[in-house]
Amino acid sequence: MIDTHCHLELADYDNIDEIINICKKEGLKKIIVSGHDLKSSIEAIELTKKYDIVYATVGFLPDILKENTNNDIKKLEILIQEKKVVGVGEIGLDYYWYKDNKEEQKKLFIDQLNLAKKYNKPVVIHSRDSINDCYQILKDMNLKGTMHCYSGSVEIAKEFIKIGFLISIGGVSTFKNAKTIKNVIKEIPLEYILLETDSPYLTPEPFRGKKNYPYYVKYVAQNIALIKKISLEKVTLITTLNANTLFDF
Ligand code: NI
Repeated sequence: MIDTHCHLELADYDNIDEIINICKKEGLKKIIVSGHDLKSSIEAIELTKKYDIVYATVGFLPDILKENTNNDIKKLEILIQEKKVVGVGEIGLDYYWYKDNKEEQKKLFIDQLNLAKKYNKPVVIHSRDSINDCYQILKDMNLKGTMHCYSGSVEIAKEFIKIGFLISIGGVSTFKNAKTIKNVIKEIPLEYILLETDSPYLTPEPFRGKKNYPYYVKYVAQNIALIKKISLEKVTLITTLNANTLFDF
């Protein structure tokens, strides 16, 4: 099993050694830690050097346009070339939190997509209330990637698959009222699905509301097995294969 997207930051966890040990005991083969600004991207790369099972993606979310943080894209380009950086992300558009700077967000997004293209890396897409704009930008880019914490419809999921994207399923899919995403799991073939936790956020049942950990990815997998009426072994096998292919492990 692979947690293809989480955030293991020192600000959130004081026991990363222990978390990595539990992940190994639980049979996780790899963990991909995603950056969302320069600091967290550098921190993610530090973790890849310390732990064999940790890989990183690096990128800037639209938050950096509002916060007074260092968002030098030239520095990001240097990070992309680090050894265990397997993708560019999380990057994207967020019209839930930021409605007044859409053009600025699109520019930041496209600049990073172009970097992914230049270095032949897959992209990890954050999309909140912006799925159509994300699709319009991505459909002509000829990139591979994944829709992180997907929350859209079955129809749009199929459109993303057509342009070379996978659909990442996280803890929200285990919530009782998550009808749309349960339907996506039912309708989308396992060959296009990735598992993720987005730790420390979006903790799956039965720990909803508490802090999330990469090793809780098994609850996401169990739920997919239940919905698709297939074995947990099959979910683990195929989603691991999907991740290995996309991130070129
Ligand atoms: Ni995330």
